[in-house]
Amino acid sequence: MRPISAPAPAARFRRMRRTPALRALTQQHRLGIGDLIWPLFVRDGTGLREPVPSMPGVDRLSIDLIVAAAEEAAQLGIPAICLFPYTDPALKTAGCEEAWNPDNLANRAIRAIKAAVPDVAVMTDVALDPYNAHGHDGLVRDGVILNDETIAALVRMSLVQAEAGADILGPSDMMDGRIGAMRAALEGAGHKDVAILSYAAKYASAFYGPFRDAVGATGALKGDKLTYQMHPGNSDEALRLVERDLREGADMVMVKPGMPYLDICRRVKDTFGAPTYAYQVSGEYAMIQAAAGHGWIDGDRAMMESLLGFKRAGCDGILTYFAPRAARLLAQG
Ligand code: PBG
Repeated sequence: MRPISAPAPAARFRRMRRTPALRALTQQHRLGIGDLIWPLFVRDGTGLREPVPSMPGVDRLSIDLIVAAAEEAAQLGIPAICLFPYTDPALKTAGCEEAWNPDNLANRAIRAIKAAVPDVAVMTDVALDPYNAHGHDGLVRDGVILNDETIAALVRMSLVQAEAGADILGPSDMMDGRIGAMRAALEGAGHKDVAILSYAAKYASAFYGPFRDAVGATGALKGDKLTYQMHPGNSDEALRLVERDLREGADMVMVKPGMPYLDICRRVKDTFGAPTYAYQVSGEYAMIQAAAGHGWIDGDRAMMESLLGFKRAGCDGILTYFAPRAARLLAQG
């Protein structure tokens, strides 16, 4: 495509910016409530709402309040929520066995949500970090993150999540070959309609800091995740990973974090045309909230502008902690 226009003054770009009506007609990209996936932190107990200090406005919720949040999502028209468990440190082991306990916190939350609000799609996190004494997404032996042994664990975890009623599995672990293994296991167990949204291009990022506080992984994590998450300097590798995951049976793919990686979103969408999502991660949320909290930026406008940027970059949807607030603003029109 090569946009052309007449020379000035025949072309005056300000003509189409003159009034709200003309601006509405010429607006190319739009954010809709249907683009939003709302990540939620679940904890044990009842009636508990526990603020996450590094994510102002975000709380860890007990299952009853997670169900209420899912009801709120349904009322607002948010199509999907994504669950992250805050696991009791006493349940974290080197073998990560709690990950495939059918009655672990995440699976109990899935069942409660699907019973109360079946129309809201429930997405899960498939990675071992909430259950791992080492804080890593994979099993660790002698300081090394084990790929193939981790995949076997992720497959068990996927099957219990599918059994609990998850609509979308979100492997966020970055092990090689997990999509194919999960897909084969799901097909084999009769879970033919459970979707996989692969965290295909996930970078080793400082922007995950507040999330690790929220799920209680900060203290547990030894070292960094550089041997499995991508280096921020790489771009072509993202395309190779997305292609690999699509070929292994992913239905949707994700780029993560979001705002510093919009170029990757655009390349992924243009190259594959697959359903493409960005995760506006905890640190991105925290930055906007912190600046707005100081009165340095207009929080609502910065939020909406950041989310629209994902649409402009080619994303079909966005995982964002702003989901309910953005949905409310969008509903006002
Ligand atoms: C871990 C996981 C992380 C996030 C989602 N799943 C953190 C990490 O990889 O250390 C980050 C989300 C966010 O920062 O909002 N499996």
